[in-house]
Amino acid sequence: MEIKAIRGFNDILPDEIGKWQFVEETAREIFEGFGFSEIRIPVIERTELFSRGIGEATDIVEKEMYTFTDRSGHSLTLRPEATASIVRAYLEHQIYTFDPVAKLYFIGPMFRYERPQKGRYRQFYQIDAEVFGVENPMVDAEVVLMLIHFLKKVGLENLELQINSLGCRNCRPRYREELKKFLEKKSFQLCEDCQRRLQTNPLRIFDCKVETCQEAIADAPKVMDFICDECQKHFDKVKEYLKMGGLDFILNPRMVRGLDYYTRTAFEVVSYQLGSQNAVTGGGRYDNLFKDIGGLDVPGIGFAIGMERLISLLPKDKEFTQYPHLFIAALGEENSKKAYELINQLHLHGIRAELDYEGKSLKSQMRRANKLRAQYVLILGEEELRRGKAVLRNMESKSQEEIPMRDLLNTLKTRILHD
Ligand code: HAM
Repeated sequence: MEIKAIRGFNDILPDEIGKWQFVEETAREIFEGFGFSEIRIPVIERTELFSRGIGEATDIVEKEMYTFTDRSGHSLTLRPEATASIVRAYLEHQIYTFDPVAKLYFIGPMFRYERPQKGRYRQFYQIDAEVFGVENPMVDAEVVLMLIHFLKKVGLENLELQINSLGCRNCRPRYREELKKFLEKKSFQLCEDCQRRLQTNPLRIFDCKVETCQEAIADAPKVMDFICDECQKHFDKVKEYLKMGGLDFILNPRMVRGLDYYTRTAFEVVSYQLGSQNAVTGGGRYDNLFKDIGGLDVPGIGFAIGMERLISLLPKDKEFTQYPHLFIAALGEENSKKAYELINQLHLHGIRAELDYEGKSLKSQMRRANKLRAQYVLILGEEELRRGKAVLRNMESKSQEEIPMRDLLNTLKTRILHD
């Protein structure tokens, strides 16, 4: 039986990789320009990190984690997100002793056992950015500004920035109670999962896709109406700073995010070109996560961009693939050796070159050069060799010129790299 990849796990093939590299390079460039440093975290962590960090009564922890017991009997989990791991790393390595403020980013795959569909996979990539140690709402706006700058820089258009405030541990319990009271009256409308959520974590009902649950919650009380003065002041400042940064946003009082660690600012960037899985990015502030994981009181804020969704939105007319600069079509044994010598030199000088390894005819080598979309073909023919010349053909303009075999490397470098 043919072995295939597991459902929800994708290969990223060479013809798509240019987009991934472009996005990753742009993220590195922009984030580092904003003072962020890259961090790399393990793929597997102790299960407890996520159950404590993300929250026991969330979909991720309840039903989406890839959890297994290792040979020593430890419960381990493939990371479903990066924030909890980055927080753990900051605490474990006491990064705060160097500077209490840390700006970190991470790029890598995440794993969630969700039902695969367009834009939703079981292994998916995130670009994640986090700022630790700053409570000032200025940083909330700065992080969002960096995000939008990046999304625009890679060519995304028609995005909508949605924001909300989820309050804090002082004001949210009262909202939770109000929401619960409101929904208890409508519990007959709720699906089985939401009946349970009503007792364990009523805010999660906002995320439910079942139509009757959506109807039940349609005119539910809004968290924004229950936040305390401190949270309100913080939120007002975030909005003010976003406006100062020239960003448009809409308030979405129903956006509660799917992870329990959020406090105060929450945001998503959505694209209506994406269909039902329309969030390109989700993020927010989490001022209690450090306490929950490691007992230290450090505020944090960040976001994660879904790379598959982002890549599906890249401009269609932009070329991301790198094709060979040059194809060397050599004819005959002696020319083939010359081609081998030359190609090694070209590669050392950063010229993407290809050749034929099978002694094929000129016609078939030209066909391959065409298929590979080489910019130039260098023809090393028997006749030309006798005259000490080679033919350089520009595959786009179809023009040809004879160039001397002497100093071939330098001539090619000038033609190709300064083209
Ligand atoms: P999240 O909203 O769970 O947040 O995920 C962030 C983004 O990852 C989503 O907006 C989406 O683009 C992408 N994503 C999530 N699940 C899938 C999936 N199954 N398939 C494809 N793409 C997916 C977090 O993960 C938080 N850690 C974000 C954060 C960082 N908050 C603060 N700091």
